[in-house]
Amino acid sequence: MTDVQSTPDSPALENLLHETRTFPPTPAFAAQANVQAEAYERADADRLGFWADNARALLDWQTPFETVLDDSAAPRYGWFTDGRLNAAYNAVDRHVAAGNGDRVAILWEGEDGEQRRITYGELAADVARAANAISALGVGTGDRVAIYLPMIPEAVVALLACARIGAPHSVVFGGFSAEALHSRILDAEAKLVITADGGYRRGGASPLKPAVDDALAKGGTAVEHVLVVRRTGGDVAWTPQRDVWWHDVVPQASAEHEPVWVDAEHPLFILYTSGTTGKPKGIFHTTGGYLTQAAYTHHAVFDLKPETDVYWCTADIGWITGHSYVVYGPLVNGATQVIYEGTPDTPHKGRWWEIVQKYGVTILYTAPTAIRTCMKWGEDIPAGFDLSSLRLLGSVGEPINPEAWMWYRRVIGGDRAPIVDTWWQTETGAIMISPLPGVTATKPGSAQTPLPGVVAEVLDDAGHAVGNGQGGYLALTEPWPSMLRGIWGDEKRFAETYWSRFPGVYFAGDGAKKDEDGDIWLLGRVDDVMNVSGHRLSTTEIESALVSHPWVAEAAVVGAADETTGQAVVAFVILRGGDEAADRPDDDAEVVATLRGHVGQAIGPIAKPRSILVVSELPKTRSGKIMRRLLRDVAENRSVGDVTTLADSGVMSLIQQGLAKPA
Ligand code: WTA
Repeated sequence: MTDVQSTPDSPALENLLHETRTFPPTPAFAAQANVQAEAYERADADRLGFWADNARALLDWQTPFETVLDDSAAPRYGWFTDGRLNAAYNAVDRHVAAGNGDRVAILWEGEDGEQRRITYGELAADVARAANAISALGVGTGDRVAIYLPMIPEAVVALLACARIGAPHSVVFGGFSAEALHSRILDAEAKLVITADGGYRRGGASPLKPAVDDALAKGGTAVEHVLVVRRTGGDVAWTPQRDVWWHDVVPQASAEHEPVWVDAEHPLFILYTSGTTGKPKGIFHTTGGYLTQAAYTHHAVFDLKPETDVYWCTADIGWITGHSYVVYGPLVNGATQVIYEGTPDTPHKGRWWEIVQKYGVTILYTAPTAIRTCMKWGEDIPAGFDLSSLRLLGSVGEPINPEAWMWYRRVIGGDRAPIVDTWWQTETGAIMISPLPGVTATKPGSAQTPLPGVVAEVLDDAGHAVGNGQGGYLALTEPWPSMLRGIWGDEKRFAETYWSRFPGVYFAGDGAKKDEDGDIWLLGRVDDVMNVSGHRLSTTEIESALVSHPWVAEAAVVGAADETTGQAVVAFVILRGGDEAADRPDDDAEVVATLRGHVGQAIGPIAKPRSILVVSELPKTRSGKIMRRLLRDVAENRSVGDVTTLADSGVMSLIQQGLAKPA
């Protein structure tokens, strides 16, 4: 907490807050919006009653609940605790039961141009078959299943099949390395891994199964089987008995399957995310509360009309946004949605806009980093496509700068579609702070207002709520249905990380400011977590990866501001002398290339530092803590700030001199 990535008072962010443009909803949009201003009043008057109403209205319960909130074991809150339900039943079967089996659930487009259209009826049958198949592989209620898949329909089917039998899934993003996958499989003690031979990315087949093989070869796991989807058709190594082709067991399985009705508090999934220490945290979510808020927010914030909208969230299923706004929220609400497998510039930089035009996408949810990348490519690219179907745009993952917001509104939204800037986290499970598109006059760059039923405050160091015009730390002061229920296997870390900074209050780890109207502006992380292209990375985790290389004695990592990716990873390393240095090339550039590769192997390509600077010293306080603030100044080419707390104030000039010499 002493070392902040960006403080609520940093000057660059100060400029943002002078934004005065506002965009009220058009009367036509406001009139048809799913949620109106009364929702705030209703929730303020009776927050628990508000959530209970939504839980009943949006979900089917096999056993209705009577208890709304159980706070007897706080901060391990329980919601709707005496109710029973099934997440997969809510996401698919009940739409079929309601006569909507022919509605398209998924409009899937592979990067290679392959297309599939899957109705709710077909999806229900696929999920039931997959549930039968994974049960036959020995997976029971409560067992964990690791999922390491590309963005193909089987990914949705796999998650829902797990949910159907009450086996918590743990999705690992396909960009993570074998090592990262191994530690996640171990931590969750997964019994089954569901993967694919590979997926298509950047115009070619990118393998996945070898990483699973390598992860399992590291040993110690409880994995009995690996279920493999054939996507790219490449050669794969095969371990008989352990490995099973999806196409050998799923299509043959019965489409009859009785969902396992679970308690509302039954774990639905674990999802690992970076924290302030080297070890990723297994954030776990349960069933009833999570589904309630995923569905409510999807209905309220995206204003989904299931009969007419075509919704598209570009997030990968490996992140929380993919869980809540590709799988659970939209499907529970009966949406028709686009899922695209590949990268936005394959085979050309207009691929996304071509997809919007082709499917008539009406609601688009994406990340600021993607918007900034498209800005860089130039507006004539989207201008070449008909984007007039779009009626609402969303943003998530990091603060969106006003220029990017204005560009998104004008170039993609035709100055017509409202933008919802949605703040939330893996831990919150669903959107917490966002405009309501039919109610709020939006402001470029601000997430603005807690949703109905959510209570958020900006607190000062002492834990007091700040007034308008002041900054501090974002905190959530009342429990919410989709809140995390813990860190898998680490009760103590859960209490320490989120509930100790301000006792009894959830500490989000983000800096925030309230403007003169009381609207909330998110200012980035205040801890050792970086946000690169909307992906959370831990400075400590990357530092540990670097020092695990024999050449490295010490490493310090900072997140430096980056025009496109928001932040970029910049590492400073001190190399070892002695025996370890024996096989080290003299050329720093070669050393740097090796170390980047090493981080890619330890964590995944997303964690590779943009730059690694070889230095002879690191700036430290007298108590030995690395002063990342100063390193960030260097990484961002600023003059170095206050060095008076350094043990050796000469260090910074040494580092800067070192930078001057060619690396
Ligand atoms: C950041 C992603 C500003 C924030 C859903 C948070 C945002 C972290 C926004 C969570 C936003 C997310 N404006 N910052 N609209 N949305 N963040 O767990 O720092 O991958 O703490 O969840 O992303 O990242 P996570």
